[in-house]
Amino acid sequence: MKSELLCINQTCGAIYPGTDVIYNCPKCGGLLESAFYPPVGSPIALRKVWRERRLCNRPLDQSGVWRYREMLPFDEAGAGAVTLREGNTPLLSAPKAASYASLDAIIFKHQGFNPTGSFKDNGMTCGVTQAVRLGMKRVACVSTGNTSASMAAYAAAAGLEPLIFIPNGNISYGKLAQALEYGARTFQVEANFDQILALVRVLAERLGIYLLNSINPFRIEGQKTIMAEMLDQRDWSVPDWVVLPGGNLGNISAFGKGLRELHSAGFISRLPRIAVVQAEGAAPFYDFINKGGEFRAVGHPETLATAIKIGDPVSWPKAKSVIEATNGVVERVTEQEIADAKAIIGASGIGCEPASAATLAGLRKLKAAGIVKADADIVAVLTGNVLKDPDYIYRYHTGKLDAPTGERLKSTFGNEPTVVPNDADKIASLIA
Ligand code: F0G
Repeated sequence: MKSELLCINQTCGAIYPGTDVIYNCPKCGGLLESAFYPPVGSPIALRKVWRERRLCNRPLDQSGVWRYREMLPFDEAGAGAVTLREGNTPLLSAPKAASYASLDAIIFKHQGFNPTGSFKDNGMTCGVTQAVRLGMKRVACVSTGNTSASMAAYAAAAGLEPLIFIPNGNISYGKLAQALEYGARTFQVEANFDQILALVRVLAERLGIYLLNSINPFRIEGQKTIMAEMLDQRDWSVPDWVVLPGGNLGNISAFGKGLRELHSAGFISRLPRIAVVQAEGAAPFYDFINKGGEFRAVGHPETLATAIKIGDPVSWPKAKSVIEATNGVVERVTEQEIADAKAIIGASGIGCEPASAATLAGLRKLKAAGIVKADADIVAVLTGNVLKDPDYIYRYHTGKLDAPTGERLKSTFGNEPTVVPNDADKIASLIA
């Protein structure tokens, strides 16, 4: 297989070998995407092969990413792949969440079922495999938490040295704890995500460290398979909408690329519409798509959904083409809307981290605005596990959750624990 990196900037269109260690086009600075030849093959044969692999005990076939390896820019046999059996995430129906948004039905694709609890594992398995293929010894990322947890785990599994840069005091303990446990060298930088990304790019270049942020095209390749797996699980029936939260906009870029490739190879006959939801205090892409004009970064992004606390998303040009190609929309939601939607997803027995709940909050608004119809066929992607941010949960349910503005959020669906004496009669009377 021949793998290349293409500059997505149409006025440039430069092509580089897939083994170059570059993240932006050296000629024009544009974003790069991976391409491989021959492209993904015939749907008739591959749908069957992909389905049969689910019954197989080979590690690569058990991975919900490598099972779709004909879509990936690696050796066909998947030689050298670093896998923790990522993917394989369920489609869960959530009637309570649907009725909260006045919709007939919602299906959640829960990426929080991944080995490190987020969709980052789908991309990281490919990113770290590429690092190994290139002979890199050290890998680095800046992260709002999930990328670092994932990178730490995969790097450790591959015997590489992970270096993690996080905004000091701005990631949840669940995620920080994972990075420490997986043995990453962790630097808490006194700056925000966007500032640290610039810093890490300089360090990666200077020290010859492989950068594994979503600007890395091989991460995007792995995340593409989330759409393949979702469609495979639905026997290739295309939903009307795919809804996801947006931060650095890598995931929407990946979904768009995956859908585009599956469409042009004939696996699906139409594209779903994509809806991206941002937190109101960190919504530069919402402003760009809905208000027009130049793309403008938000200097001081703010949201309790720290996973998507990003003001200058690097992948916005790719995300823009996905919105255009899928007749997509971008919505934004408040802190209160995220917190309440999250409690509803929890009360559905599903649960997710705050950023993921932006999907339900956004759907509720899009339904109210008449953009999403009540009977629409919807897949919303829950990006992270409920246990990623337990502090947020405890505060919400006990009425102690403050928005970044200092305003106390309402504990609309609060579920406070009750302190009781060690007394069966008293407890029985409370229960009865
Ligand atoms: N949801 C969760 C749980 C995330 O961790 C992220 C991103 C997103 C949504 C947004 O995805 O950036 O592809 O638009 N987290 C990154 C990180 C930035 O460092 O873990 P995106």
